[in-house]
Amino acid sequence: MSALTPHAHDRSAVFAPDPIPARAGVGLKAEHYADILETQPDIGWFEVHPENYMGAGGPPHAYLTRIRELYPLSLHGVGLSIGSDGPLDQDHLARVKGLIDRYQPGLFSEHLAWSTHDDIFFNDLLPLPYTRETLQRVCEHIDEIQSVTGRQILLENPSTYVEFAQSEMSEIEFLGEIARRTGCGLLLDVNNVYVGATNHNYDPAAYIDAFPIEHVGEIHLGGHAEQEDDAGEPLLIDDHGRDVDDAVWALYRRLIARRGQCPTLVEWDNDIPDWPTLFAEAQRAERIMRDRRSNDAALH
Ligand SMILES: [Fe+2]
Repeated sequence: MSALTPHAHDRSAVFAPDPIPARAGVGLKAEHYADILETQPDIGWFEVHPENYMGAGGPPHAYLTRIRELYPLSLHGVGLSIGSDGPLDQDHLARVKGLIDRYQPGLFSEHLAWSTHDDIFFNDLLPLPYTRETLQRVCEHIDEIQSVTGRQILLENPSTYVEFAQSEMSEIEFLGEIARRTGCGLLLDVNNVYVGATNHNYDPAAYIDAFPIEHVGEIHLGGHAEQEDDAGEPLLIDDHGRDVDDAVWALYRRLIARRGQCPTLVEWDNDIPDWPTLFAEAQRAERIMRDRRSNDAALH
């Protein structure tokens, strides 16, 4: 656990860099600040989007500081636009580095996606084709981020709704090659695998089995919405607006049987439930991590 020094103004010296334990955590929501501080639940860690803490002070930082005193923290960015064909936004990168220095997160991650193009910002994280050209660009961006922040980054597999005809390699090959070239780690989002597998008709279990497990430093779980596309086929949307689907829990069991215990985050960003409901999802993940017998059975 971290300790506050008397020199709280010296932000880089406030927190020790607590590693994220191989336990379950949840995305920290403002709606739950008070419950967490009051009940101090037995949960492994919390994760926040740096984009929600870009201001210098105010209540968000006051709460986050108090919660960081009690728990390890992970920073999970959605705004660096690593897959963009232009240069990285240096102001944004500097702000992310400032938060890393201030809160000393145990893990730092971003999506394999892009959200800016020629100064236009998109709200959604957009996928990219898996070509040698985009591979080179993503690796250069990751090298730059790791050198500016002085930290390893974990790169997350995206949830996808389109596939690109020009892709020259699979998503798994693309991610594995990035990790080998840059030394970054990977964040495996099991719900994203299930969403992509349903939308593009491939086997999610085969994806989990083939993923370069040696690079996985964190796992994500989350809920999705079910819709239909124009042809009446099921279309899943990664909206993090409900509990984790049973099919995703089954894939998670399979992944844990392969990987062993690993920091696992439950993401719930829309229609946010009360604290006990979210905490129960994290406890379910932790039970699966501890139950090795059912994990082994899931592999056969
Ligand atoms: Fe995720």
